[in-house]
Amino acid sequence: MKTDGFKGRDYMTLLDWSKEQVESMLEVAFDLKRRFALREPHDHILRAQTLFMLFYNQSLRTRNSFEAGMTQLGGHAHFLDPNKIYTPALEGKEVAYSTERVSDVARVLSRMGDAIAIRCYGDPVDWVYGGAHALMEEFARWSDIPVINMECDKYHPCQALADIMTVKEYFGTFKGIKFVMSWAYSPSVHKPRAVPQSAVIAASLMGCETVLAHPPEMELDPEVIAACKANAGMNGTTFTVTHDFEKAFEGAHVVYPKAWAATPIFQPPVGENDPDKTQQIFDKYKSWKMTSEIMDTAARDAIYMHCLPADRGWEVDNDVMDRTDVAGGWRSAIFDEAENRMHAQKAVMSLIMGGR
Ligand code: CP
Repeated sequence: MKTDGFKGRDYMTLLDWSKEQVESMLEVAFDLKRRFALREPHDHILRAQTLFMLFYNQSLRTRNSFEAGMTQLGGHAHFLDPNKIYTPALEGKEVAYSTERVSDVARVLSRMGDAIAIRCYGDPVDWVYGGAHALMEEFARWSDIPVINMECDKYHPCQALADIMTVKEYFGTFKGIKFVMSWAYSPSVHKPRAVPQSAVIAASLMGCETVLAHPPEMELDPEVIAACKANAGMNGTTFTVTHDFEKAFEGAHVVYPKAWAATPIFQPPVGENDPDKTQQIFDKYKSWKMTSEIMDTAARDAIYMHCLPADRGWEVDNDVMDRTDVAGGWRSAIFDEAENRMHAQKAVMSLIMGGR
């Protein structure tokens, strides 16, 4: 296990990390999961350290997995509502005595704690694609302590690490695993691309046979597609893009359907700043819903995955989400996946905040 090269680094996207380093993160995550299961104390790892968590958007899993994880590691996670501090803003977006420049916020928090975690996508940056990621990069530029991406408009590396941890847990390997990330219908058009983009990066990096399925209007970032192709080339595996929802899942081991934004939702030049057009596009694809009939066409031991929250009845049927029993056949892994958020993030924090 390679553990050097972690201490003090930011965790912004898996594109910044090698396959070997991600394997090390997974090893540490499984070790921490074992300790948690045995109630084996491990609160020396980040004792008395502080994580500042800045949430521009709502959260159930991310906030609570980081808070619980920091408690278990011996530190404290400090929740910051951007509207209750002086909202951190980039130069040119400032409002007197209402916002505070990101460069100042980053340097102040660096004097008091040990890492800064940020969630920001969508409305807070007016759906400028990449705007939230740029905000995080500005934090990272000025911060003397690690910055952790808790989901921006491009990447959700915490979710992706938990996702591949769950795949490894169920199948023991990535080799020969058909991992299908697909768009699915939701009545809400305001969904970032971060989860699907990070999921296909992670799956292709680890060596899965990775499939991306979506309607033509829901394409992902060309840089992400190029990275997935490069990963597949490195691993001698495949990365395939298809517009056929049902066919994509035939023989799949990992079934991961979820909604993400259509391109017109974004501001120009990426999109058209047109929510009505986006809604019309979405409504053409109401049939993109995961059902038990489609699950039956996947591999016999397939798992259904979703980052959650899922839009029940639109993205997926209840009987798919709730089939968590182990009686045989395909099953839903969503609660293992949610739990693994905590173990995966504890591994990341242990390595970058407490590592050597
Ligand atoms: N999957 C995920 O990030 O969940 P939350 O939005 O609840 O944090």
